Amino acid sequence: MATDTAERILHFKASSRLQRLFGRELIPDDHSAVEELVKNAYDSNAPEVVITIIRPTGDRDGEIEIRDYGLGLTLREFERVWMFAGYSEKTGQPLPETGRIQVGQKGIGRFAADKLGRHLTVLTKTRSAREALRVIFDWQKFGQKKRQLLSDVAIPYDYVEEELLPKGTSGTILRIRGLRSAWPDKEIEELRRRLSRLLNPYDKEQSFRILVKAPTRKLSGPIVASEIKGADFEWEIARDDQGKVHIKRRSRLERGSPDWSEWVPLPVTDEERVSDEQEFGPLRARIFFFVDRPKKASFGDALPGIEIYRDGMRVEPAGSSTSDWLGLLAKRAKRAGHMPLVPSRLFGFVEISREENPDLQDATNRRAFIHGLQLDAFRGFLQRRLNELEAQVEDEVAKPKWEKSRRIKSQTLIQARNKTVSMMSLSLAHELRQPLQAIQTASENVSGYLHKEGISIQEVDSATAVIQKNVTRIEKQIQFLKSLGSGSQETESFSATETVNEVLGVFRELARAQNIELALVSAADAKVTFNRTTLLNAITTLVLNSRQAIEEQNDQKQHHVTVRIDQGAAATRIRVEDDGPGIPEANRPRLFKRQTTTKQGGMGIGLIVWREALQMFGGELACESFSGPTVFVVTVPNEVLNGQTAAG
Ligand SMILES: Nc1ncnc2c1ncn2[C@@H]1O[C@H](COP(=O)(O)OP(=O)(O)OP(=O)(O)O)[C@@H](O)[C@H]1O
Ligand SMILES: [Mg+2]
Repeated sequence: MATDTAERILHFKASSRLQRLFGRELIPDDHSAVEELVKNAYDSNAPEVVITIIRPTGDRDGEIEIRDYGLGLTLREFERVWMFAGYSEKTGQPLPETGRIQVGQKGIGRFAADKLGRHLTVLTKTRSAREALRVIFDWQKFGQKKRQLLSDVAIPYDYVEEELLPKGTSGTILRIRGLRSAWPDKEIEELRRRLSRLLNPYDKEQSFRILVKAPTRKLSGPIVASEIKGADFEWEIARDDQGKVHIKRRSRLERGSPDWSEWVPLPVTDEERVSDEQEFGPLRARIFFFVDRPKKASFGDALPGIEIYRDGMRVEPAGSSTSDWLGLLAKRAKRAGHMPLVPSRLFGFVEISREENPDLQDATNRRAFIHGLQLDAFRGFLQRRLNELEAQVEDEVAKPKWEKSRRIKSQTLIQARNKTVSMMSLSLAHELRQPLQAIQTASENVSGYLHKEGISIQEVDSATAVIQKNVTRIEKQIQFLKSLGSGSQETESFSATETVNEVLGVFRELARAQNIELALVSAADAKVTFNRTTLLNAITTLVLNSRQAIEEQNDQKQHHVTVRIDQGAAATRIRVEDDGPGIPEANRPRLFKRQTTTKQGGMGIGLIVWREALQMFGGELACESFSGPTVFVVTVPNEVLNGQTAAG
């Protein structure tokens, strides 16, 4: 039967609404729409595109005109390419003279005109044609009737003399009327910014110019891609078609300096070869980083982030450029903001080609590359470079800076603490002295009155003697406190034996009560030339450390802290040794290291401070034995060292 022999075939029909789907409803905004039409002018091999924006006024319609002196189209060509939705003849072959690779691929970009306005008139002319072909689109005709086919919409054309396309010239003019936007100043400014980012400022060719003619002078003029000026780090990266990676980099000799270091080439790496399906083509990249927040003049209309240019025109690798397609913001968030490579100070320009990266294709809305293995490999490659850059930044700037600030902070803290301690001891000494003198006077008065009355009581006399003796003892302690707190920077000649004795004398009674015997072993009266306050403090710290360690051990046994003074030819060694528990294994490596000093008390701080102070005057402090016995040795010069000053 007839139905059996008939071919069993179905055909798609295209609704006239498709035009709208690909134009007005796909293109995200007016600026993107203009970009599409500019790209078409670029593809037509034009040296320049001129965009004229006329705002609507009370009685006059607004208009956007996009004009190029590119190749233009004949009626036949127009029918073949313009009138064929979703078809593109652009081959990826370089165009004559400019060597330009056309960026169009999908055959839908022209529908963006609908985004801008309700009517489009195309005027196009090839060099040999006499008149311009005029085609008039009324976008409202599309999708008007429900079951209307794309091919059912009638598009009128004719030939006209167009003064802007005189004889012997070629080109295309798009006139868009019935504008859908009022194009206020800020929209035109944004358009200029967007267009300036369309072109790679580091593209050597620069064979294409974009000119905007707007209602005001300020908004008019050529569009220039912003170069990056004054960055602190600059990288040039090339990946060749063998997958070899060539990098050279330079950085400012000093922060904010106009001078660059020489370019430093990094060893060429054979980046791990990716599989065929992941393979992405050669690329070239320039990356810039600012240590401090850059001024607007340093980057102009460029936006922070890594921009991708394919054959000279910007493409969106993933969503809008504000999207975090390289994961920088996510990384920063994860590290609670501690990231040397601050994303907002990073600028990059990566050039790829369509031919060598066939799988790096944009989504139809141009807002992202289509996801795939090639995109992952490409992204991974850039992320590794950024990690390397970050390591360099950290090395050259961040780490030294942080370390320095940490060092300064802890130094300041220690100095402040010392200051307080010395002020405290001085004021305490002062405070104590007055009541003590009152006690002394009062006790003298008591026995004085009694004597005057001719009364002599033995018990009163001996009590007075006890008071006197203890007052003298406290007097000594006060003197000691004053010496400890003295901020003297003087170097003087004095007896180390006496100084050590003074320390031991102050603590002996108390120590004895804790079963600790303080002893001094000194051959002779050892004269040294040094800052006495520093030595006094250092020895006090060591003796107190020993006492504290023994005390914490709490073993009820008799203990000894012995100070031995050995005078050599040039220097005197003062060893403080104790039979306490020793220094715990864990504390040994960081005994003299600056730690974060917010921790109150604890050991270490005193050692660090007094070692530094000793060194300032040409002395030294070392730990000679961590346990059994624990031995610290202070060394001070006998005579003043050559050129050694307090500031030394
Ligand atoms: N200014 C122009 N000069 C010459 N030809 C043009 C111009 N604008 C468009 N064309 C022709 O019309 C075709 C359709 O343009 P359209 O932008 O829709 O597609 P495309 O550029 O090929 O691909 P894509 O959709 O990726 O931009 C182009 O391929 C080109 O042949
Ligand atoms: Mg196009």
